[in-house]
Amino acid sequence: MSAPTLLRLARPRVINPLRSYLVRGYATELKPNLSYTKPTHPDSTASSHTPTQHIITDQSQYLLNTYVRPPILIKQGKGLILTDTLNRNYLDFTAGIAVTALGHSDEGINQIINQQSSKLSHASNIYWNEHAGELAKSLVENTKKFGGLGFTSGGNSSNDEAQAKVFFSNSGTEANEGALKFARAHGKATGGENKTGIVCFTNAFHGRSMGALSVTPNPKYQSPFAPLIPNVKVGKYNETSQKAVNELIDENTCGVILEPIQGEGGVEQGDIEFLKLVAKRAREVGAVLIYDEIQCGLFRSGTMWAHSSFPVEAHPDIITMAKPLSNGFPIGAIMVRSSVAETITPGMHGTTFGGQPLATAIGVHVLSRLSDPSFLSNLKETSEYLGDKMKRLPELFPSLIQEKLRGRGLIRGIGFKDTTKPSELVRLARERGVLLLTAGSDAVRFVPALTVSKEQIDQAMGVIESCLSIIVDGEKA
Ligand SMILES: Cc1ncc(COP(=O)(O)O)c(C=O)c1O
Repeated sequence: MSAPTLLRLARPRVINPLRSYLVRGYATELKPNLSYTKPTHPDSTASSHTPTQHIITDQSQYLLNTYVRPPILIKQGKGLILTDTLNRNYLDFTAGIAVTALGHSDEGINQIINQQSSKLSHASNIYWNEHAGELAKSLVENTKKFGGLGFTSGGNSSNDEAQAKVFFSNSGTEANEGALKFARAHGKATGGENKTGIVCFTNAFHGRSMGALSVTPNPKYQSPFAPLIPNVKVGKYNETSQKAVNELIDENTCGVILEPIQGEGGVEQGDIEFLKLVAKRAREVGAVLIYDEIQCGLFRSGTMWAHSSFPVEAHPDIITMAKPLSNGFPIGAIMVRSSVAETITPGMHGTTFGGQPLATAIGVHVLSRLSDPSFLSNLKETSEYLGDKMKRLPELFPSLIQEKLRGRGLIRGIGFKDTTKPSELVRLARERGVLLLTAGSDAVRFVPALTVSKEQIDQAMGVIESCLSIIVDGEKA
C-alpha cells in the first residue's frame, strides 16, 4: 500500500456535507431547499376534524360522484391564498385550474359584481345589453393590438381586413362546441355537404360535451360515452411530416382544432414548424383552423394569445377562450375571422346565459386589468423568475425530473421520469400548504394567478424542492 493511501485510511472520517449530498444522488453544487420537509397541513388532520367530515359525508350523499377529492373543504380565498375549514392557509398554484388570473376575491371584481348585479344580471339575448358588445370590442381591439387571429401585433391583418366577431358562451366546452359547429357550417357553405371532417390531436383536451369530447382523444373520458360524433381523425401533436399532415387533413376536412400549448395534456407547446404546416394544409383544403386558448390564452403564456407572437401564417381562423375571462364567473367565447363570421346567420346558434351583462361586465374589467402595461411588465418579471427557479429542479433531481422544462409565462410544467410521482408531489406539497395540479400522465403543472409575487414563487418552489427531496430519499430507502 502506498504511503498516501495509508495516510488517508488513518485519518478520522470527516463527513463532507457536499459529498454526502452527492452520495445521496443529488447534483453537485446546488442544494435543495429543505425548509419544508415536515407536513404542516396533513390531510389526516382534516380527515379527523368531525365538523368538516360531517359536511363532506352529508354532501357526498347528494353530489354525483364524478371527482376524486382530498378530505379538505375550502371555505374562502383572497389573492393566492385559500383557507380551509380548519383555518389553514394554502398557497394556490392552481388558480382554480388556470381561472382566477387576478387572484381570489379580488376587490375590483367584487365591486363590478355588486354594481352590475344590483343593476341588471340577466335579460337574455332577445335584447341588446350594454356589456356583451363592449367585451367583444375589447377582445377584438386587444387582439389587433397584441397580435392573433391573423392580426400582427400593432393592428395589421394578414388576409381579411374586415372585422373579427365574438360569440359568448358559458364555459370552455361550450365555446369549443360552438367552434366545431361553425367549422361544420363554414365547410358545408364553402365545400358542400361532404365537407364535415374534423381533425384533432393526441393528448388534446377540449371538453366533455359530445362534440368537444369527440376531439378529446383520451379513452378514459371517451369510452364510457361512445359512440361519439363521426368524421373525427386524430393526428400526432407536433408531427412535422408533410406527408402525414397532408393525409390527415384532406379535402373533406372542415375544421382542425388544437391547443397551441396543451394544458391538461401535459403542458406541451406546439412547435412552430408543426403549427405552420397544419395551418398551411388547412388553408389549402379550405378547413377552418381553431386554436383552443381556453387554458393558455388571455396572457397566461406571457402574450395575449399563446399564438400572438407566431408568424401570421400560423394564426388560426377561430380562437376559443374561457377560464380567466371573468376571473371565475362562468363565461366562454368564440372569436372568429370575418370569413367565418359571414357563414353564420341568425338562428343558427344561440344560448340563454351567454353574453349576459353581469358576466361580460366582469370580463371588460378583467381584460382592462390584464392588458395594462404595468401589469404585463410585472407578469414578464415574475414568469421569468419562476422559469429561473424551475431550472434548478432537473439539476437537483436528475433521477426524478426530465431535463426539458415545459411551458412559458405562467403556464409551466415539470415532467417526471416515473409516472407515479406527479400525484405524489401534489399530495406532499398540499400537506405543506401549496396546491399544485398534475398534467397528462407524467407532469406537474404550475398555473398560479398572474398576480403571483416573487415571494410566493420562492415559497412554492421551496416546498416543491423539499417534497422532491422526500421523494428521492423515499426511493433510496
Ligand atoms: C384547453 C381546454 N379546453 C377546454 C376546456 C373545457 O373548459 P370547461 O371546463 O370550462 O368546459 C378546458 C378545461 O380544462 C381546457 O383546458
